[in-house]
Amino acid sequence: MSDIEINSVLTENRLFEPSAEFAAKARIKPEDYQALKKKADEDYEGFWAEQAKQLMDWHTPFTRTLDDSNAPYFKWFTDGSMNVSYNCIDRHLAENANKTAIIFEGEAGDTRHISYQQLHDEVCQFANALKAKGIKKGDRVVIYMPMVPEAVIAMQACARIGAIHSVVFGGFSADSLRDRIDDARAVMLITADGGTRGGKVVELKEAADKALSSGCDSIENVIVLKRSGHDIAMQDGRDSWWSDAVAGQDTTCEPEWVNAEDPLFLLYTSGSTGKPKGIQHSSAGYLLNAITTNLWVFDLQDDDIFWCTADVGWITGHTYVAYGPLATGTTIVMYEGGPMTPDAGRFWKMVEDHKVSVFYTAPTAIRALMKFGDEYPNKYDLSSIRLLGTVGEPINPEAWMWYHTVIGKERCPIVDTWWQTETGANVLTPLPGVTATKPGSCTLPLPGMDVDIVNEDGESITEANTGGYLVIKKPWPSMLRTIWGDDERYVDTYYPKFGGKYYLAGDSARRDEDGYFWIMGRIDDVLNVSGHRLGTMEVESALVANDAVVEAAVVGRPHEVKGESIVAFVICQGERPVGEDAEKMVTELRNWVGDQIGAIAKPDDIRFADGLPKTRSGKIMRRLLRTIAAGEEITSDTSTLENEAVVAQLQGKA
Ligand code: WT7
Repeated sequence: MSDIEINSVLTENRLFEPSAEFAAKARIKPEDYQALKKKADEDYEGFWAEQAKQLMDWHTPFTRTLDDSNAPYFKWFTDGSMNVSYNCIDRHLAENANKTAIIFEGEAGDTRHISYQQLHDEVCQFANALKAKGIKKGDRVVIYMPMVPEAVIAMQACARIGAIHSVVFGGFSADSLRDRIDDARAVMLITADGGTRGGKVVELKEAADKALSSGCDSIENVIVLKRSGHDIAMQDGRDSWWSDAVAGQDTTCEPEWVNAEDPLFLLYTSGSTGKPKGIQHSSAGYLLNAITTNLWVFDLQDDDIFWCTADVGWITGHTYVAYGPLATGTTIVMYEGGPMTPDAGRFWKMVEDHKVSVFYTAPTAIRALMKFGDEYPNKYDLSSIRLLGTVGEPINPEAWMWYHTVIGKERCPIVDTWWQTETGANVLTPLPGVTATKPGSCTLPLPGMDVDIVNEDGESITEANTGGYLVIKKPWPSMLRTIWGDDERYVDTYYPKFGGKYYLAGDSARRDEDGYFWIMGRIDDVLNVSGHRLGTMEVESALVANDAVVEAAVVGRPHEVKGESIVAFVICQGERPVGEDAEKMVTELRNWVGDQIGAIAKPDDIRFADGLPKTRSGKIMRRLLRTIAAGEEITSDTSTLENEAVVAQLQGKA
């Protein structure tokens, strides 16, 4: 990898044009992009109305597009009715019944191919099973499952009958599950005996039982999929096996034609106060942007095999696994296990085995796999890949370059997609056949997305490289509708400033000379050092650009004089430096960051550990790091941490 030039996000200036070969076959070509943008600029509602008519099947066509009479509770397509499951499955059956919808692989290597017809039949059977257990339109159903096809089947079955699902990631603890069930007042829980990850059984039913015995009095029924096959307890009258529930059920089930605005799902995400927010999404508006982005950004075409590695417990697993790619009639790959099982070549082996053509994953996964060198990807034939994507956090240029050269062989565009649970679908992203990319930048807004960066007064910041609040100025179809059961918190969180006119994303960002967006971090991750605004991400990116550093997280610590001082938590290549080695490394890294960004950005305190505290989804727990940096006592729950042991190291106690 020594021939890869390493830049930090602040000095990044390389531009990668889409290859002529890719651009020639892309769905969206430069002239299409210009036409879409022009239409959206001239007639915003007309633009979305046209997309909604073209890309979705309606039961009752809508005549009204945007209803902003009760802003910021926006509504779309309010007099239309449709069904999401019908749009994802039934409408493909006439021509593509035998096309593979899902290629599934378990950690042990077991595989299953499910055609659109089979998916239809299984979704209908399960939908009928739900009805038999009394589930009706509007009921909340919690899904706490491993990453197996039945998770998607359960989601689609809820959509088919108009029930509102809330998927809780299988890595969450019993307490988290209970809180989410209670907040939604869910009447049913769908789970499995257990899942598999890293060779270990994930005790889903055990956690579910614990959750149910400590609250969850709204739950009437539990359906349990047999997956791991190990012994679990079943409670009479409450629990039934999936196989028994579907036995004898019909393989057809008339879709419930729901209103465009009826909720499709809730998805809980953490807020700054700690109490999770039930992000409520609509049916039609959500599905529309799931479709537009799968077509425009992932360029899905008839023969594509799309693998988005996200779990269905996250929004990415909703929009780019369970809904969007099915609505476009695509073949998707689902994988149950861990990326390091049996070794760091697993993803690349699966790309070869299943001829994956579009691959979408997170920077944290790329960095983790990059650590093992080029040897693993080089063992496999990755020539089927034509497009790569990333999501979840800013990708540091070094990881971007590795993805580009070692995985994409310098042939494949990379779409760095910025979006949120709340936005429902990609917002800022390159279009792969159109946009020249820069490592570390999510580039430009999609057509129909009115994104800006503003100052405290809500004024657009036109000066290049000046940070501000990332906002979305017009409502868009897949935006969240509210926070479940807490309309007030919805307004307080997303429309708290600028006279309630703009959606506040909670990220800070800057635009470069070309107008490209660079995400600097969450608003509360922005440091203020001696009156200078510094993104934690910018310091992190400088640190990881050093050869000795594998990963870094930076937080602020209140400082009397400077406002904030910078504390860096660093993971080094090889052994964790201690004693004199650590001191030397601290000096080197301080000078390095000083050279890269400026003396102002030199961390005041650098600590080394074997890992960073992360949630099971790979998000660094910054609030915890801030507590550690401030030397305060940890009061928050660390049970959802992937690696609890590093906490003591970071505190300097081990
Ligand atoms: C936050 C949303 C969207 C699905 C996964 C995360 C950060 C997301 C990027 C990106 C820089 C990114 C932002 C955003 N983020 N994608 N491409 N570049 N930052 O969903 O848990 O709702 O988190 O993730 O900070 O606000 P989420």
